[in-house]
Formats: sequence, structure tokens, C-alpha cells
Amino acid sequence: MVEEKTTVDMETLVSLCKRRGFIFQSSEIYGGVGGSWDYGPFGVELKRNIKNVWWRDIVQRRDDIVGLDAGILMHPRVWEASGHVESFTDPLVDCKNCKKRFRADHVEEGVCPECGGELTEPRLFNLMLKTFLGPVEDDASLTYLRPETAQGMFVNFGNVLEASRRKLPFGIAQIGKAFRNEITPRNFTFRTREFEQMEIEYFVKPGTDEEWHQRWVEERFEWYAKYGIGREFLRLREHEGDELAHYSKATHDIEYLFPFGWAELEGISNRTDFDLRQHALSSGREMTYFDEESGTHIVPYIIEPSGGVDRAALAFLVDAYREEKVRKRKRVVLSFHPELAPVKVAVLPLLRNRPELVALAKEIAADLRLHVMTMYDDTASIGRLYRRQDEIGTPFCVTVDVESLEDTAVTIRERDSMEQTRVPIPEVKDNLLARLGTV
Ligand code: GAP
Repeated sequence: MVEEKTTVDMETLVSLCKRRGFIFQSSEIYGGVGGSWDYGPFGVELKRNIKNVWWRDIVQRRDDIVGLDAGILMHPRVWEASGHVESFTDPLVDCKNCKKRFRADHVEEGVCPECGGELTEPRLFNLMLKTFLGPVEDDASLTYLRPETAQGMFVNFGNVLEASRRKLPFGIAQIGKAFRNEITPRNFTFRTREFEQMEIEYFVKPGTDEEWHQRWVEERFEWYAKYGIGREFLRLREHEGDELAHYSKATHDIEYLFPFGWAELEGISNRTDFDLRQHALSSGREMTYFDEESGTHIVPYIIEPSGGVDRAALAFLVDAYREEKVRKRKRVVLSFHPELAPVKVAVLPLLRNRPELVALAKEIAADLRLHVMTMYDDTASIGRLYRRQDEIGTPFCVTVDVESLEDTAVTIRERDSMEQTRVPIPEVKDNLLARLGTV
């Protein structure tokens, strides 16, 4: 039945995301704003599911990692100590003719890509977004919107250690917004000015750092594969010396083959003892761990797996996209892993003008809704309703037909195979939960 399979280009994906309510341009009615996107009804579910499975795998199912939710606004000295005020910069060039500004590493041969004009020498531009705390906008009230969630975990190292009584190795995990004044936000939600990170700071004994680094690289690679991303579209890339961030001894990126090429999904860095030492120096507070084995205070090394929620969502969307021909008609399907699918089950009455059918379908939906994200829809013919659910990646549709009133059974249709099975109504919930893997 399935005759053809294709992958997606960005234009098609962006259009699907808007049409079906995954992602909208921010402030669209005002012409949009660069580098910020809004997640619609299904996008927000996809993102929540990604964050939930990450949190479950990293915090709930492990004994060695605890969670944190630190503030976006921090003391400005955090960003001096962390090196961001001095080093979190991109080299920029200006066109002397059209006055446009570009990242020096995004232009070739000193020529303006827009008008061919002459470019200035590169100047460093800090990527942190500034803001002011309190009513007076002066240097004393200046701070930044955090460009990474990591620092909240470093400055709370002592608090978490004391409160949770952990022994090395242990980690702190956090999910939250980060902001960067990217010069050239691009590729839809790939590079934006406001985004969400899922970060782990894993504290280890110095000397064991390289081994832990390797373990985390492998673990995080497997995580993306576990939730459905084809291994052939994932690869590891080690940073060259001159590419390393100011805090990093070694970084491996997990890259995904997006329609615009291989690009970073997540970076796993060996941050050494850089951050704890810097904060100890700057705050005057001890940032050490008492090692009972050696009877000494040590400064742990930090391994940091740092991923972007938005980039993960984009990769899962791209990877899930299928275009098929079914009986000579195009079928678009998002074959999400069931854990990530925004809606798990759709309940559809075959005929919307039969009150008994509608009532039964609504009753089944109300019961399922107690357990999983469920949608009821009777606004089109059954064929169109199936297509809609395929396009948002709903793993199962439950169809209530005239027969259902007689045999108290319904049809369950599976998204990818389109296989249909007749299931007695009292068994529908358990049947679906088992197939969704949630029991
Ligand atoms: N704490 C380390 C850190 O922030 P990073 O490589 O700069 O490292 C980590 O960022 C992850 O955050 C990236 O792998 C990416 O997924 C996401 N990220 C970074 N900048 C982003 C941007 N401008 N837009 C969307 N996601 C971004």
C-alpha cells in the first residue's frame, strides 16, 4: 500500500508546523521578531514530552543526579567570574557601504554578502542580553539574562551538596530558558535568541574526568536514538582546539543531519574545575568537596552534557516526517516515538449527525483523557480526520461507527501501519495504554 517515502525540506516543515499548530512566528501580527518563536497547541506538547522524558531519564531514574530550578536573573558578578563578560563574544564585521552587520565567520573574503561592499576589521560583540534590575538604568543595576542555565548549578554547588548529602560522582540537572543576542538567528528554531536548555553538571573526582566524559558522550548519543532518531542521521564531532569554549578542556558535539546540513544538537564538555575555582575566587566562598578517602578538600571536575530543547524538538520533527503515497494519494505522517507524540489517541465518530455515536465517542474520549492526552474530533469526514491526526503524529485513532452501538466494539487504527483492529470498548483503555508503553 505504501509506495513512496521522502524526507522533508525546511520550507515544507515550517509550513506544516504553522498549519497544524506546532510553531508560530513570534509577534506575527506585528511582522514577527527575529530569533523568537511561539509553540502552539501541539508544539507545546511535543516540547513538554521531550523535557519530561529527559527529566525522567536523568533525574527520576538515576540515583546520582538531583534537579534544580535556578533564577534566570543572577548577580552580575556571576557573569564576570564565569568569563562570559570577557569571552562570550562573536567577531563581527560591518559593511562600510550598506551598514549591515555580519558574523565574521559567516562571510567570505572580506566582502559584504548583501551588497558586495567593503567590510570593516572584525570587532568582538558580547552575546549576552543586558537588562537592569530596579528603577534606575545605570551600571550598578546592570545584569544579564542568563546565556546558559549552567551557572545556576555551579553557584548552588555548596547548597545542593549540603542539602542532598551526595558523594562524588553526582550531578545537578536543570531545564530552563537561556538568552543570547545571536547576530544571525537562522534555520527556524535552530538558532534563536530565546531558547530552552536541558543541562547536566556532573561533578567527578579529578583524574576520572576523561572516563566520565566518554561515558556521558555515549549515553547522550544513545538517548536520541532511544526516542526514535535514526542513527544514520546522528554523528559525533570533537571540537578543534581553537573552537573550544573558554571553559572547556574537550567538547564533543552530537550532531544531527538537518535539512540544512549537519549541526549541533547537544555538546558534552569537560569543564574541568574552571567554574568552581572561578566562583570561589570571585565570591570568597569555599567551593570544595571533602573527600573522605584521601581526607582532603578537593575541587571537583565537571562534565557537562548540554542540550537544547528547541533543537531536540526540531530534530524529532524532521526525523519523524514521512511522505507516503497511499492509493495514489499523498499521506503526510509524523512518526513520533509514542512518548513524544503530542496527542496519544484521537477518538473519532464515523458520523457526526448520529447523536448516539457522538455521545459514545465522547464518553470513550473522556475516559481515555484521564490517562493520556486525548483528542475528540468530528469536524470532517473520517478520511480527513485520519490525515489530520497523521500530520500531528497521533499514534492511535479510535473510530466509533454504527456497528459499535450493536457490538460494543470500536476500531483502533495504528498510525504507521494504518492497520485496523476491532476491540471491545471495555478493553480499549488497557489495549491502548499497553501499546503506548505507558503501563
Ligand atoms: N552550558 C554550555 C552551553 O551553553 P552551548 O553549546 O553554547 O553550551 C548548549 O549550548 C546547547 O544549547 C546547544 O547544543 C544547543 O542545543 C542549545 N543552544 C545554544 N545556543 C542556541 C541558540 N541560539 N538557539 C537554540 N539553541 C541553542
